[in-house]
Amino acid sequence: MARLKLDLRGNAYRKVLGFIFREWAKQPWRVAVLFGTFLLATIADVLTPLYAGQLVDAVTGAATPAGLEAALWAFGILIGLGLFGVAVRQLAFMALIQFTLRMMADVAQAAFQRVQRFSTDWHASTFAGSTVRKVTRGMGGIDLLNDTLIIMFFPSLVMLVGTSILLGLIWPLMGLVIAIGSVLYIAVTVALSVGYVSPAASLANAWDTRMGGALADAISCNSVVKGFGAEEREELRLSHVVGKWRDRTGRTWSRGTLNGGIQGAMLILLRTAIVGVAVLLWWQGVAKASDIALVLTSFFVLQGYLRDIGQHVRNLQRSVNDMEELVDVQFHPLGIADRPGATPVLIEEGAIVFDRVTFQYGKHTTPLYSDFSVTIPAGQRVGLVGRSGSGKTTFVKLIQRLYDVTGGAILIDGRDIRDATQASLRSQIAIVAQEPILFHRSLAENIAYARPGATRAEIVEAAKLASADDFIGALPKGYETMVGERGVKLSGGERQRVAIARAFLADSPILILDEATSSLDSESEQLIQEAMERLMVGRTTIVIAHRLSTVRALDRLLVFDVGRVVEEGTHETLVRREGGIYRKLFERQALELTRGLQLA
Ligand SMILES: Nc1ncnc2c1ncn2[C@@H]1O[C@H](COP(=O)(O)OP(=O)(O)O)[C@@H](O)[C@H]1O
Ligand SMILES: [Mg+2]
Repeated sequence: MARLKLDLRGNAYRKVLGFIFREWAKQPWRVAVLFGTFLLATIADVLTPLYAGQLVDAVTGAATPAGLEAALWAFGILIGLGLFGVAVRQLAFMALIQFTLRMMADVAQAAFQRVQRFSTDWHASTFAGSTVRKVTRGMGGIDLLNDTLIIMFFPSLVMLVGTSILLGLIWPLMGLVIAIGSVLYIAVTVALSVGYVSPAASLANAWDTRMGGALADAISCNSVVKGFGAEEREELRLSHVVGKWRDRTGRTWSRGTLNGGIQGAMLILLRTAIVGVAVLLWWQGVAKASDIALVLTSFFVLQGYLRDIGQHVRNLQRSVNDMEELVDVQFHPLGIADRPGATPVLIEEGAIVFDRVTFQYGKHTTPLYSDFSVTIPAGQRVGLVGRSGSGKTTFVKLIQRLYDVTGGAILIDGRDIRDATQASLRSQIAIVAQEPILFHRSLAENIAYARPGATRAEIVEAAKLASADDFIGALPKGYETMVGERGVKLSGGERQRVAIARAFLADSPILILDEATSSLDSESEQLIQEAMERLMVGRTTIVIAHRLSTVRALDRLLVFDVGRVVEEGTHETLVRREGGIYRKLFERQALELTRGLQLA
């Protein structure tokens, strides 16, 4: 178990650093400029104590013209080194801004691209809020990681190595003490961060992600919460998640603080050793006052860097952990991917064949469809009826390849849909979904989503055909009205009419209407019906409907019952079948209709 945990930890670093270095490789020039400039600026720092020592040397001598000249030279070089460092760093920081921003932008785009292509199943089981949290936290992580590695770690290393060499050249013992002390210090710091703080941070971040998900879930379902007056219940629920997050984060921060304390103690030990060696050298008569000045200045510069290294290691750990889940997004399999060599499909006829299809939803134990075969000839208008949960919506999701079949194949115009690119396949299937979802964009944009280049005249024409023009015209901003997140500012029937207008505009060879008029009153439905019939001409059409009046005129009806077609035929043949399911359904609806009429 301990072994496994250790592997996972190393894994986070390997995974994230590998990812970051691959991103760096995309901007080789900027990387070269960054490391070059920071190297120069740090070398200026390394040399500073040398000239501080020379200055002390000069001013402790006699005040002769020669002494003054030496003092002024040392003084001038000190100032020059300082100015040089500032100027070069300024340059480096400007380059870093461009470098990091481009990386953050690229990574955000890449994550979005990936998330968009994750399967319907992934989206169905993942909180949108959690995903947003992973992406934003990860972007912050990139910023911190770049800063840590380039501005901090690298110069610190140059400083350590440079100072050890510089002092080692003068007194080998001093160089040795500094080198060994620094290496030990860094090793302990890194070990604590990787082995002690980081695992706690991974866990804390997992709860941070969950908190994002929980917040988004409750907020987006606010209408339900309000409807049940359940605000307090939701607050209690959230407080559980927040409590967990607080626990885990508290533990991470405590561990980080302890790590910082240990680093402080180690620094004091190191200082003791270095100053001790300097005093020893002085006692032995090897070092004089200016040498002590050199050692002390070096140490103060070095100590600053070392103290920072502790902070940098903690930052490194934090940024690696913050990026971990974002990097995972990049490596998570898509679920449904285009086959290598998949080509765009051009649907000409629109014949649909289910060839001995077996399909089962992820964790279900029994398949919904087993060895299921159906043939829909090109241009046929087919109605699907049957109890809710009998697999009608799944049938059309499979045609869109939102899920892959577990056995058999689905063919369109004789071609396996898995051989086509998903985007080309879906863009040629117009679908009015059971619960249409709209973007929080204008109505015009929402309708034109089916055909991005559509003119205003085409949009209005489609809206008219879908009987949406009337209600849109009555809105204060008409076609420019924003519809709210997912379209919440419209009624169910209005949303459906917008979705139907989209389908009119899409002009696709295959048309699918999944309970597309279920939220409309019979009168509005009648109005659209005629237009819909015109829309169906020359297209393969699948109509799922609860109200049988919607489908009775179609070429063929399929009656579904838990993943099987139990009856099929035209309305006329099906109503004549003694004891048939369709007949029973029809009789019940006819009865309800007459009762309704009597009441009215
Ligand atoms: N994403 C999903 N994951 C797991 N099971 C699902 C999913 N979607 C639908 N189901 C199940 O599959 C069955 C068929 O659903 P569906 O095709 O939506 O039925 P219908 O449209 O006929 O009402 C139902 O039992 C439903 O619970
Ligand atoms: Mg359905």
